[in-house]
Amino acid sequence: MADANPAHAVDSEFYLPASEFFPAQRRTALTYDDVTLATLYTEILPKESQIDTRLADGLHLNIPLVSADMDTVTEARMAIAMALNGGLGLIHYNMAEKEQLSEVSRVKNHVHGLIQDPIRVHPEQHIGDVLELIEKKRFSFSTFPVVDGAGTLLGLLPGHVVKPRYAHRKVTDALTPRAQVRTIPERELGADPIARADRFFTENLGIHKLLVVDDQDRLKGLFTLSDIERITQETGAALKPARDAKFRLLCGAAISTVRRKDGSIDRDRVVGHVAALIDRGVDCVAVSTAHGHSRGVGEVVRWVRDAFPALPIIAGNVTSAAGVEFLASQGANVIKVGQGPGSICTTRVVAGVGIPQLTALYVTSRAAAACGVTLLADGGITKSGDIVKALTLAQGVICGGLFAGCPEAPGQIVEINGKLYKQYRGMGSHAAMKAGSAARYGHSADATRKAAAEGIEALKEVAASIDSVVAQLIGGIQSGMGYLGAASLPSLRERARYVRVSPAGQREASPHDVIEVKTPGGSAEKA
Ligand code: XMP
Repeated sequence: MADANPAHAVDSEFYLPASEFFPAQRRTALTYDDVTLATLYTEILPKESQIDTRLADGLHLNIPLVSADMDTVTEARMAIAMALNGGLGLIHYNMAEKEQLSEVSRVKNHVHGLIQDPIRVHPEQHIGDVLELIEKKRFSFSTFPVVDGAGTLLGLLPGHVVKPRYAHRKVTDALTPRAQVRTIPERELGADPIARADRFFTENLGIHKLLVVDDQDRLKGLFTLSDIERITQETGAALKPARDAKFRLLCGAAISTVRRKDGSIDRDRVVGHVAALIDRGVDCVAVSTAHGHSRGVGEVVRWVRDAFPALPIIAGNVTSAAGVEFLASQGANVIKVGQGPGSICTTRVVAGVGIPQLTALYVTSRAAAACGVTLLADGGITKSGDIVKALTLAQGVICGGLFAGCPEAPGQIVEINGKLYKQYRGMGSHAAMKAGSAARYGHSADATRKAAAEGIEALKEVAASIDSVVAQLIGGIQSGMGYLGAASLPSLRERARYVRVSPAGQREASPHDVIEVKTPGGSAEKA
């Protein structure tokens, strides 16, 4: 493509490749809004661009987005949503190790479209009890599997009998008996349970529910026709889920460099924890700290690498070429880049340390290419244009703030002056360090009160679902790739041409000199 339409000499003088642009700017550290990308001749439409990315052997994503390992961003629900969209969620470590293992299991055992823990009722309950349950929990459905105390399927309570006129009748008198309920053994679901259920509903006219049972006839799940129809309709447009070789969703987990009282890191505990995570099917671990170019982090990466040679290891954070080389030499495959760019970070304010993100990415990308590792641009992403710029130097991005307002992020919604918000806090905030993340910042949990916080506690406006936020972000990424004529992410990295932007240029880049009548609502639209 480039040969068919070679760069014009004037363009080449002003719009420079990374290898010329960043060294020419070496006295000033730059971040996303300081630069813009030049357009290039294109033969591809945005929707044709391929956005899959290989982070490490055995860690291939269909979209280059990772949700941050923060306690207000990624638990199982977020990780499931990210993987279903083709990305990856990193389960945070501000919880007991046992809980983190359960969160990983939830992701790895998730079957999209299969309700794995359906609400069930018991034969001796009255229809009135069921009506009360629906009212109390605000269920939008009224058909329930009926099971005995051991979980064995006894029948199905159909919605048309769950009516006040039958309130005094027992479930056992109203249920459709087991023999007439359509079921499928769990072991017959195969590699693509959705396709299996879809086929069942097509072959069985008028049946709307398919129950899943184990070999002892215990209830294991429920498919509904409406869910399956929605999923199959979306399939054409939707992004391909990120799955492992066994067709399970991908899931990552952060691990901590917890120290003993004497200050040393507990090797056996770290290795034991990673072994348990692998047992649950984890696809990668992230050694997440504020300062990855340090002896302790290097030791942890080395122990994990030696114990689990094939496990993809993400480690960080660094902003220097030496930091990348160090972590790569200890056995990390993917390096997190970012010190202080995060929306809730105060590292640069508190410690006076950190590098604006684009310069950090350029410097680290030089070392990464030499060491054969990949980079994740971590923090500071506020819009899809930032992601396009990050992807000219890194293989993926980590987002915290952009996803923290989504319903899939942990935490309650709070209402303030009629507006809805969710909590979003830095892992270096006092509250988060007290909950477990102190080691990430080189402090011990019991001394966190005295330690200087490097993050704040904040609120995010409630945003749309991850599906729509990701769809907006992907639209933006593909748009950027279309402007650069990049059919794939490696091509985007090769073709990117940069130029500095003045403060007036930055103002010009956003809506200006108009009265906005339609203000973007949540992060999804802002993205
Ligand atoms: P965004 O901008 O996406 O950033 O909200 C998320 C990233 O910020 C990092 N992080 C912190 N950095 N103090 C820091 O200096 C903190 O308290 C803190 N908490 C999270 C982290 O890399 C995350 O992915």
